[in-house]
Amino acid sequence: MKALILVGGFGTRLRPLTFSKPKPLVDFANQPMILHQIEALAKVGVTDIVLAVNYQPRTMVDAMQEVEAKFNVKIHFSIESEPLGTAGPIALAKGILAKDDSPFFVLNSDVICDFPLLEMAAMHKEHGGEATILVTKVADPSKYGVVVNKEGSSQVERFVEKPTVFVSDKINAGIYILSTSVLDRIKPVPSSIEKEIFPAIASEGLLHTLDLPGFWMDVGQPKDYLIGTGLYLESLRQKAPTTLHASDEIVGNVLVAPSAKIGSKCKIGPNVVLGPNVVIGDGVRLSNAVVMEGCTIGDNVLISDSIIGWHSTVGKWARLENVSVLGEDVHIAAEVFANGACVLPHKSIAASILAPKIVM
Ligand code: GDD
Ligand code: MG
Repeated sequence: MKALILVGGFGTRLRPLTFSKPKPLVDFANQPMILHQIEALAKVGVTDIVLAVNYQPRTMVDAMQEVEAKFNVKIHFSIESEPLGTAGPIALAKGILAKDDSPFFVLNSDVICDFPLLEMAAMHKEHGGEATILVTKVADPSKYGVVVNKEGSSQVERFVEKPTVFVSDKINAGIYILSTSVLDRIKPVPSSIEKEIFPAIASEGLLHTLDLPGFWMDVGQPKDYLIGTGLYLESLRQKAPTTLHASDEIVGNVLVAPSAKIGSKCKIGPNVVLGPNVVIGDGVRLSNAVVMEGCTIGDNVLISDSIIGWHSTVGKWARLENVSVLGEDVHIAAEVFANGACVLPHKSIAASILAPKIVM
């Protein structure tokens, strides 16, 4: 089986983390975001995975070499000379996607869920249409692609990208299986699968949906990344509870890398991820927080609803909250209060940040 992952875009909404790494390599639950997708694809027997990129950082190439060996898959880089949107890259990779006439998967690189790929493939075969998209329900559908099904059917009547008026609360989860005939509808030029291709396929009655069981989140911006982390940890609680940390200091779902160290009299959780080689001092309180590889958190620090980028340090008694995001190698002095601070990499912060702002 074959798949293409849309990895383009500059990840601007996930800055300052994406100043240090391309979005697909930003860690989510202690592994690069894109590994969640690659792992799910490999598990169902996908052997050829195209990464559609509009730039090819060395870090990405190196990271993928290890991944090929680990999951026994072939990773093909398909490089655009200009951003081709969400449809153009599929045409550009035609050589691989059309190498046989079996359908192929297409995934957005920033969504996280249980990836019911086998169910999608089975359903796609059964209805005989051209495309099957995974759908889920959200409270605010305006920032997504929205679908309206034909009454009582999996067939899509309308697909509207980012609607300005309410259409439906059922949204495109960003995971598709497409027949090779879809390749005849797309050219390798800038184009949108959501605005151009899906509405056309729907108008011919050939677009179908599968309702996603379980959790789903687009983790492409900090607030949603934190919500997605909580949902992912809860799914681990259901599927693989022993991967979560358990001790007197832990509250709720907490994932701790084996090399991380936690001091005494801490309260960690709920919804916390501690990366490799993280050192947490004594009396630290963390909730809804992600602390990435190599960070050191001083005694009596309080962090809630925030992301601490790689190799940063937080001085004792500091307090970080309200979607504060520290880039890589940021240093927060003791007793500083950060309220919604977005701090660029390699900065040192000595004074409190009382209201949400970007520190350059
Ligand atoms: N190769 C390539 N080239 N990839 C691109 C480009 C490009 O020019 N532009 C965007 N992408 C990739 C992004 O990296 C991401 O994985 C995917 O295409 C979707 O782009 P986003 O920018 O994340 O779109 P969105 O989140 O606003 O909306 C999309 O996802 C929603 C679900 O999260 C749409 O597919 C919506 O319909 C959907 O509901
Ligand atoms: Mg997105």
